[in-house]
Amino acid sequence: MGRMLRTDVFAMIVVLSMVLSSARAKVSYDDKAFIINGKRRILISGSIHYPRSTPEMWPYLIQKAKEGGLDVVETYVFWNGHEPSPGKYNFQGRFDLVKFIKLAHQAGLYVLLRIGPYVCAEWNFGGFPVWLKYEPGIEFRTNNEPFKVAMEGFVKKIVEMMKSERLFQPQGGPIIMSQIENEYGPVEWEIGAPGKAYTAWAAKMAVRLNTGVPWIMCKHETAPDPIIDTCNGYYCEGFRPNKPYKPKMWTEVWTGWFTQFGGPLPNRPVEDLAFAVARFVQNNGSFFNYYMYHGGTNFGRTAAGRFIATSYDYDAPLDEYGLLNEPKWGHLKNLHKAIKQCEPALVSSYPTVTWPGRNQEVHVFKSKSGSCAAFLSNFDSTYSTKLSFANKQYDLPPWSISILPDCETEVYNTAKITANSSTARMNLVNNKFLWQSFNEETPFINDGDTLAMQALWEQVNVTRDSTDYLWYLTQVDIASSEGFLKTGEWPELVVMSAGHALHVFINGKLFGTVYGGLENPKLTYTGKVNLTVGVNQISLLSVAVGLPNGGLHFETWNAGVLGPVMLRGLNEGTRDLSKGRWSYKVGLKGETLGLNTITGSSSVEWTQGSFLSQNRPLTWYKTTFDAPKGDDPVALDMSSMGKGEVWVNGQSIGRQWSGYIAKGNCGECNYAGIFTDTKCQKGCDQPSQKWYHIPRSWLNPKGNLLVVFEEWGGNPNKISLVKRTVVYSSTHNASLSNLFMPKMSIK
Ligand code: GAL
Repeated sequence: MGRMLRTDVFAMIVVLSMVLSSARAKVSYDDKAFIINGKRRILISGSIHYPRSTPEMWPYLIQKAKEGGLDVVETYVFWNGHEPSPGKYNFQGRFDLVKFIKLAHQAGLYVLLRIGPYVCAEWNFGGFPVWLKYEPGIEFRTNNEPFKVAMEGFVKKIVEMMKSERLFQPQGGPIIMSQIENEYGPVEWEIGAPGKAYTAWAAKMAVRLNTGVPWIMCKHETAPDPIIDTCNGYYCEGFRPNKPYKPKMWTEVWTGWFTQFGGPLPNRPVEDLAFAVARFVQNNGSFFNYYMYHGGTNFGRTAAGRFIATSYDYDAPLDEYGLLNEPKWGHLKNLHKAIKQCEPALVSSYPTVTWPGRNQEVHVFKSKSGSCAAFLSNFDSTYSTKLSFANKQYDLPPWSISILPDCETEVYNTAKITANSSTARMNLVNNKFLWQSFNEETPFINDGDTLAMQALWEQVNVTRDSTDYLWYLTQVDIASSEGFLKTGEWPELVVMSAGHALHVFINGKLFGTVYGGLENPKLTYTGKVNLTVGVNQISLLSVAVGLPNGGLHFETWNAGVLGPVMLRGLNEGTRDLSKGRWSYKVGLKGETLGLNTITGSSSVEWTQGSFLSQNRPLTWYKTTFDAPKGDDPVALDMSSMGKGEVWVNGQSIGRQWSGYIAKGNCGECNYAGIFTDTKCQKGCDQPSQKWYHIPRSWLNPKGNLLVVFEEWGGNPNKISLVKRTVVYSSTHNASLSNLFMPKMSIK
């Protein structure tokens, strides 16, 4: 009882301090909207994740966001990028969060800071540092002390940093709201009591940090007051916040979807995207954030598990390279203009809804001061309609909404595109590189630099994610009495792995490669192996493709060869190798030598000319090249290669997996009707990703070092350097004209 009383008193103090601080704050909310400096606002926001581009690209991206009619830029905060090892922080380069926020401020934009620190986001380990998994007694995202201590420490660190830079709105900065956790509702629902306790703790912890601006929790119906619960998805018009005095917010308007290695390219037609947004606004929605507005690139090894590709283009209004993806960018810009014209009526009245005809719906907002805005909808996904409103007739294409900011003039229809369209081109710059190669060796069990252990170990436990690669090494003795030596019926090796890819070498020779898929990262290798009398070396190279970023207790999910590993077809029947002696070698020899770096690459002898290795698995390649003239974005066409990673001047431009061919359904796509991530796909039966972005600012004018590691075997002589240009053309007259060629600022 005494305990309960203390908790109640504490809760009262927290609520009181929240009320007091919201009375002081310049940002607050009511059921209609966010209120900034006393004014209700319809706020239009877009996600740009700072580490998915470079600081040199930020001003341009932010400027295009501003010109596209955004009020707010949203970003997650990426814990594992900022604290790669405990207490060692990184806020430099692509991780210069303060600089990114200040640039948004300078451009006149607000910021929504989704601190998380769980972010999901197709980002390695959902944003958590890998060392966190090894804190004693830790369990992620639940009522667990070690986790809560670590989470609070990081959230505090970020909030203090923002405060000391005066970045919250009441301090004169651009941050008008922050997010704690991310889509925790479904987890809480699944785990029950500890989940509820964790939610209550996270909410109190966040509010106590006294940022002076509201907190949100997305996809979290039980978000406690004063935290606002918000919606994520392709459509959110039907969403209601959990209290009648909270505004209706949509934190993730998915503009497309992410690409996975092995999957096609998802596209979302802008007519449907605009329709979804207009539906939300006509249903009293007052804040929406495009996820993503610029998707960018998963540089290095930042992409999450489940085969997330290096490109995070997302079919966003600004493409991976930062160029306008038209007509998406322009059609949304026009939508934003129309919505802003309606703002006075939208923020000061509730809609009156009528249904003048089949599949027709009309929403009218009329304020006391005389402003009037109407939204006319046609929900039919096949037929256009003539809708009568206030003695006038309006033509509405299928699945569309017309916006009338004065209740009379149609200034915009979600399916009538007047913006330009664009065609992106990858123009060949250079495909005549002078390549040199270096052969990665296959290690054996007794090599000096291996770790000897009994039995099979989980991969991340051994590598701590310092590399994608872990060698599992063992040996088998074959007696001269083995029957297969006479019959030629080779024994069969079976290797079971939790993922994500595996190369099997016997006595240094590659016998096979297997990899998991989109739905299931697990894999099994089964193959006949030529063994000889005496000692045979089995070397298994297990490859992780990023750590998972979501799912219940994803920190406990395994990778690597967990067994069983068996040899079938011996005199004794089946020999189980799983429990035998295994040695481990973390990473590749080339990684240890730093072949991807400028200094390391000159530490070994490379071969070239007629000695150049081609189509050989586990091979390093290097060359140098000059930067193409101009400032168009630059990329590599890697379609002649299989799988690996690419570095330019020592910086990783990401994993490359051009050999993973997209499977899926790439049929016709009609914008009308409910959209799903597999509805409008492109690029089936081609590599899921063949172009890899090299940021301009990573290049010197001359002599750039390009290093490729190839796992499968490929032809480096066919790698080409390209420049990306976009041709913009008017949608109403089909002639191609070079209307507008945006330039990247590389200052
Ligand atoms: C959401 C999540 C985002 C991102 C998105 C898919 O559920 O909140 O972080 O992962 O899905 O791109």
